[in-house]
Amino acid sequence: MIQVSSISELNNSLNSLKKNRESIALVPTMGNLHKGHLLLVKEAEKLAQNVVVSIFVNPLQFGPNEDLSSYPRTLDQDIVKLKKTNCKLVFTPSEDIFSLDSLPVVDVGSIGKVLCGISRPIHFNGVATIVKELINLFNPEVAVFGKKDYQQLFIIKKLVRDFDLKTHIIGVDTYRHRKGLAESSRNQYLTRDELKIAPNLYTTLLNAKEDIVEGTLALNSIEVKSINTLSALGFKVDYFKICCSKTLQTPQDRVKDLVICVAAYLGKTRLIDNIEVL
Ligand code: PAJ
Repeated sequence: MIQVSSISELNNSLNSLKKNRESIALVPTMGNLHKGHLLLVKEAEKLAQNVVVSIFVNPLQFGPNEDLSSYPRTLDQDIVKLKKTNCKLVFTPSEDIFSLDSLPVVDVGSIGKVLCGISRPIHFNGVATIVKELINLFNPEVAVFGKKDYQQLFIIKKLVRDFDLKTHIIGVDTYRHRKGLAESSRNQYLTRDELKIAPNLYTTLLNAKEDIVEGTLALNSIEVKSINTLSALGFKVDYFKICCSKTLQTPQDRVKDLVICVAAYLGKTRLIDNIEVL
């Protein structure tokens, strides 16, 4: 596995990878790699001849009071983990590489202002700006993202359509711990007691899905019931929304193409999760 940090090194390596017209699957990450990230790498292996991973904690997607400075940076361990996979190249740029102040900011519009965008107003513009930059740099056939960040995946698919980028965007199912807690770099902020409560986020999603399928409760009653359940368990719910999976807006159809999305604080840690109702 090659590790490169500058754009010229990256271009040299990409040229040699691409010289035999070999395909590339890009897995963008912010590092602190866990089993969820490694699942994306595994899926990427099936989609192209070369898997490349980027590790960059993107300041543009963090709000002023968010955890940019404390976000876990574990590059050495990340490299060790990637060496055990079939990843061919890891791109580990430093912050100055992108001239972040002068990068043309992508405005994702109204889709960045719902769900997580309400409490994180600049987040998705920051994500889209850096993902577009990475896609331009790598020009990969495929880029792989987790469904764990459902709104992010939705916005990146739209970004690629809007800018007519040729990269196929692939979504991968969420990797979960045994009790259902979605793996996340932020789980390590949880205390021991909070870790015991955290899997209830997924249980509540499963119960809401069951209620939808059963069809006796109105969708907004299911939302209220779920918020009450989570609040009673000690979560501070940011939102719990049943959305149309094709628009992320309030659904027209009761039972088809739905996704239930939740964001909730447990102590100081903000957790997100979702479940599809197909
Ligand atoms: P990061 O949080 O490091 O996540 C990198 C990728 O891993 C994302 O596509 C995310 O959805 C996926 N992922 C995280 N947890 C997962 C899990 N439990 N199961 C499956 N996939 C999971 O998301 C970002 O970084 C950034 O916003 C980025 C896209 C890199 C842009 O900066």
